[in-house]
Amino acid sequence: MDVVFQKGNASEWSSDIVFLLMFEEEQLEDVYAEFLEVAPWLKTSSVLKDRKGKKGESIVAYGPLDAAFSRVLFVGLGKKKDCTEVKMLEALRSAISKASVVCRDLNVEAFSTPGKALARFGFSLEDVVFEVVWSAHLSLYRYRDFKSKDEKEENKESKDPKSLAFLFSEESVAESVCAAAKKGEVYAQAVMHARNLSNTPGNALNPLGMTKEAKAIADKYGLSCRVMGRAEIIKEGMEAFAAVAAGSSQEPQLIILEYSSPSCEKEDPIVFVGKGITFDSGGISIKPSSKMGEMKADMSGAGVVLSMFKALGELKPEARVVGLLACAENMPDGKATRPGDVVRTLSGKTVEIDNTDAEGRLVLCDAMTYAQNNWSVKFLVDVATLTGACVVALGDYVAGIFSEDKPFIDTLMGIGDKSGEPFWPLPVHERYFEYIKSETADFSNSGGRAGSASSAAVFLKQFVKDGIRWAHLDIAGPSFIPKKIDLSSAGATGFSVRSLLEVISLYKNI
Ligand code: BES
Ligand code: MN
Ligand code: ZN
Repeated sequence: MDVVFQKGNASEWSSDIVFLLMFEEEQLEDVYAEFLEVAPWLKTSSVLKDRKGKKGESIVAYGPLDAAFSRVLFVGLGKKKDCTEVKMLEALRSAISKASVVCRDLNVEAFSTPGKALARFGFSLEDVVFEVVWSAHLSLYRYRDFKSKDEKEENKESKDPKSLAFLFSEESVAESVCAAAKKGEVYAQAVMHARNLSNTPGNALNPLGMTKEAKAIADKYGLSCRVMGRAEIIKEGMEAFAAVAAGSSQEPQLIILEYSSPSCEKEDPIVFVGKGITFDSGGISIKPSSKMGEMKADMSGAGVVLSMFKALGELKPEARVVGLLACAENMPDGKATRPGDVVRTLSGKTVEIDNTDAEGRLVLCDAMTYAQNNWSVKFLVDVATLTGACVVALGDYVAGIFSEDKPFIDTLMGIGDKSGEPFWPLPVHERYFEYIKSETADFSNSGGRAGSASSAAVFLKQFVKDGIRWAHLDIAGPSFIPKKIDLSSAGATGFSVRSLLEVISLYKNI
């Protein structure tokens, strides 16, 4: 879908349908006076009897066939006075989602909205344009890669709109507003890329497939990309990482991507580490079969980090960023790691693998050590679908955040709230270490059921060197959702791509 700006005389605007966003308290002529001049029929339309501006409301009003704008979609934003900053953003995104989906259902090719009215939300026009573009793209996302042509819903049903226009009566629109629209598109493309990766079945995306994706992005944008396979992972001393892949015929891959603006090449990098289990069967500690298929998305952390680089390549912000994607497949086999096996991690610490289904922390711990051994890290954030316990605690729509650095948590939570990707803190208290004590090794990879999101975080903490700012994001819940929501279809969501990009753009203040 193209995003365009129509500029100049309102009588020259053109669109198949124009959508108008309205709060309950608002009067049509106060907000959309300019548009009413080119669609005067609206002023006497009986639609005004029904239109209330309530949240979730969407009403199509039809004018005379020969009118310049004969179709208008009213979308309700709810009560303006109830809106905090975050609620305002949510009301806006939700309304744009409604508008986009209704327009698709009507098989509309070009939909649009008057630009001037977007300045009344209490945000800059840039910020609102960004949100509109972002929300429109994400709400229309569908994963159809494996539907045969005739079966594709878009053939049977409606096609996506081809263009979204902002209508301005001014002759020109500020460069910064166009840039905001572009940024909205780039961010959304990155999220949809992450969704595609996570929705892809395990047989179609293995660790080598992740490498292929990473190389394609690195080549396109001139980023550096280095990859280690099984032999090199073992040779480097990453026994924990290798142990996860031992039962799989697929090579594990530690993929290292680097981005730097010319101005930041000498700076310490921000480092992101993503869990990239392309399928998690549990290994010898095999999972129950119910919903095991969803474990194709157990690479979502790595997918998010990878897709974020796509946006970095497009937008080229001032920053230096390193991403490590710890990719492997966790399978049972004659060669697979057994419960009770002991491995030596890259850090030198030994781990008893008590449960082969607690594999995420094993690939992450070695990747995190590798990062700290090779870079002087500005801050380290790992992103992982790490524990079912986090889903039990926080549900499908909120991710867990774990850090001992409270200001860092506050900053990340603030970014997440505004981005529509909420994070909620759970403890990384030292007391959880009790659960991962081992008779045989330095500690165990699994601490049983009680508090297991936190014992997993405390496990990872053992691999964070003193003085390093670190946060762990457990996205097991919101990375893959059971039902559609405003900005996402059911399945993969790309959760945390936007927050990570915001972290990068704000890093100088973090
Ligand atoms: N990939 C799973 C966690 C998960 C569960 C992600 C549900 C998304 C949805 C992880 O590898 C796992 O199996 N964790 C175990 C750890 C346990 C064995 C200590 C869990 O949470 O049950
Ligand atoms: Mn597992
Ligand atoms: Zn897993």
